[in-house]
Amino acid sequence: MKIETIILEEAKKITSKYKIDQSEVEQIIRGHLETFPELINKIESTQGKDQVYRFGDYKDFIKKVKREIYYSLRKYERVPETGAMPNSYEHISVKEREPYIADFMEQLIARSANVHNILDVGGGLFPMTVPFERFPNLGKYVWLDRDKKAYETLKELNNPKLFLYNGKIGEKPWADYLPEGTEIFDLALMIKLVSVVWRQERSLIEKLLQVPAKTILVTAPKEAMTRRQSVYRREKKVLLNFIKMGSFKVVGDLDVGNEFGYFIKK
Ligand SMILES: C[S@@+](CC[C@H](N)C(=O)[O-])C[C@H]1O[C@@H](n2cnc3c(N)ncnc32)[C@H](O)[C@@H]1O
Repeated sequence: MKIETIILEEAKKITSKYKIDQSEVEQIIRGHLETFPELINKIESTQGKDQVYRFGDYKDFIKKVKREIYYSLRKYERVPETGAMPNSYEHISVKEREPYIADFMEQLIARSANVHNILDVGGGLFPMTVPFERFPNLGKYVWLDRDKKAYETLKELNNPKLFLYNGKIGEKPWADYLPEGTEIFDLALMIKLVSVVWRQERSLIEKLLQVPAKTILVTAPKEAMTRRQSVYRREKKVLLNFIKMGSFKVVGDLDVGNEFGYFIKK
């Protein structure tokens, strides 16, 4: 068997299941193959593909490849692909939203163009994609996230309206983030956040329910981060649970290609 045939076929199988490009998979496969020199010889001297797939060391090798792919896709942040600025930083949520960002913003602006302040909880790099000029009354956009790299990237923007808190949800009372003289935010964003917290730190859900905001936008992805599979029903259940727990009313929805959510109020 030609090793190249095996690499291409395996990469194709993997890309049909996981959200990753063929070329990236091929690169990962080649990287791991280097650590299995005997396997290369074994494959080259075997006749049929099916025989190759049955080798114990081939199975171990593929397991390693898949594990690497899985863990690389689980991360929210990515090192940008070649060609990007050397130290720039990418966030998977922003990248996934990119093709739909115009649509997303239109739906957000239609409901909140007049807000004076925004609290973005677990904001990641979302503020980088916000057209601030389309919120003419916006004085303060308060961002809270534990992600240090996102914090540093956003600091570089030097946007006077952006108030950055690099910390954890619940580490300070919400009132500490409010602009002076206000008791409630006009809008709180919890985009692609609720289900993450639900799965990772359930006890913090209570804190999210207490965010002082006239309106909250909660969203979730429709597709899994790693596999090409729908998570819509699962994610919708979490959002609806959250809405019920907080006795919120749904006052609108947001729906773009790979993300959906609700505008909710007390
Ligand atoms: C899926 S990302 C969404 C980012 C952004 N809201 C967006 O949609 O583009 C979730 C973000 O929540 C942040 N996060 C998760 N749990 C957190 C916590 N307990 N405290 C602060 N930030 C948290 C992560 O650092 C990450 O940036």
